[in-house]
Amino acid sequence: MLLTLLIVLITSQLSTKVHGDGNQFVQSTTNLEQINSTYSGSLQNTSTRFLRYGGSSNNYLYDAIEIIPFTSGNYTITSSSNLDTYGYLYNNSFSLSDLSMGLLGQNDDGAGSYQFQIIANLQANVRYILIVTTYSVNEVGNYSITASGPGRVSLAKSMITTTTTTSTSTTTTLGVLNSTYSGSLQNTSTRFLRYGGSSNNYLYDAIEIIPLTSGNYTITSSSNLDTYGYLYNNSFSLSDLSMGLLGQNDDGAG
Ligand SMILES: *[C@@H]1O[C@H](CO)[C@@H](O)[C@H](O)[C@H]1NC(C)=O
Ligand SMILES: *[C@@H]1O[C@H](CO)[C@@H](O)[C@H](O)[C@H]1NC(C)=O
Ligand SMILES: *[C@@H]1O[C@H](CO)[C@@H](O)[C@H](O)[C@H]1NC(C)=O
Ligand SMILES: *[C@@H]1O[C@H](CO)[C@@H](O)[C@H](O)[C@H]1NC(C)=O
Ligand SMILES: *[C@@H]1O[C@H](CO)[C@@H](O)[C@H](O)[C@H]1NC(C)=O
Ligand SMILES: *[C@@H]1O[C@H](CO)[C@@H](O)[C@H](O)[C@H]1NC(C)=O
Ligand SMILES: *[C@@H]1O[C@H](CO)[C@@H](O)[C@H](O)[C@H]1NC(C)=O
Ligand SMILES: *[C@@H]1O[C@H](CO)[C@@H](O)[C@H](O)[C@H]1NC(C)=O
Ligand SMILES: *[C@@H]1O[C@H](CO)[C@@H](O)[C@H](O)[C@H]1NC(C)=O
Repeated sequence: MLLTLLIVLITSQLSTKVHGDGNQFVQSTTNLEQINSTYSGSLQNTSTRFLRYGGSSNNYLYDAIEIIPFTSGNYTITSSSNLDTYGYLYNNSFSLSDLSMGLLGQNDDGAGSYQFQIIANLQANVRYILIVTTYSVNEVGNYSITASGPGRVSLAKSMITTTTTTSTSTTTTLGVLNSTYSGSLQNTSTRFLRYGGSSNNYLYDAIEIIPLTSGNYTITSSSNLDTYGYLYNNSFSLSDLSMGLLGQNDDGAG
């Protein structure tokens, strides 16, 4: 089946003026021509769960993070956290029903201090999925991921909708399926000048949505923030925020 990739941006206005260059898709720093791209996330009780490849129960919390390099080459992907992390790198897609499919690499403690490190040769403009999970079940905490290599890498949280996950509260009413995703906008989140906005300091998350069935979908946010959502077809470019924009909304759900 041909799956369509949609990107939804969740953003809100930051009320305090913040210093620094926040308008990059990922924060990058250079060291001997190695460029670091970082992503910060958090595994919580509400995160998705699975039986990780080689694991022993259904209760490993995980995040799926999409990695798209802009330059081909060898990249070192390392976690940093207080968790005993476990990482899996997949080529292009990740399927809960066959966790060996497309698996390019996996690691537990390669970086020391219970942090994973995966070294892989990645191709420019190809989508990879990094599964960030833990060695033991039910481990919660914050983490960051660094991809170090010859070029900048786009790192974004990926929401692969599936009817087989147990953790996304998927419920059926009158043939309507709800798929939910929980996230958090923090001071450390990526920032941009949102389409129609007035400064570079809107925090945002880019969330990938892949429907398994074609049809009309209602995408609603629930939070204490004054959220704003943008839905993009296939890709999202900071350099042209109108490209592929399918819809946007501020307060439509009340
Ligand atoms: C966010 O960061 C700015 C400086 O970067 C700081 O002034 C502000 O207090 C922080 N806000 C929160 C909620 O942590
Ligand atoms: C880039 O990341 C690597 C691995 O996490 C780290 O050892 C190195 O210090 C980082 N370099 C810079 C310039 O931040
Ligand atoms: C996480 O959820 C489990 C049950 O699913 C519960 O036993 C545990 O106390 C929760 N932990 C936290 C930190 O909320
Ligand atoms: C990538 O790593 C492999 C294995 O270590 C090595 O053979 C290859 O030359 C490296 N490629 C580049 C572009 O550095
Ligand atoms: C990744 O998947 C693509 C097809 O989606 C395939 O052409 C390519 O050979 C795969 N690469 C690796 C390293 O498995
Ligand atoms: C994770 O980060 C959030 C916000 O940055 C913080 O409030 C929370 O205490 C952190 N959790 C842990 C377990 O460190
Ligand atoms: C599905 O989501 C909609 C919109 O958020 C909500 O009104 C409805 O109650 C949800 N249905 C179930 C079964 O959770
Ligand atoms: C989707 O919504 C459009 C516009 O409201 C409507 O014309 C169309 O029939 C709907 N399609 C389905 C499959 O419900
Ligand atoms: C979405 O993008 C694809 C190509 O990537 C295009 O074929 C399709 O028409 C686009 N759909 C909409 C609704 O713009």
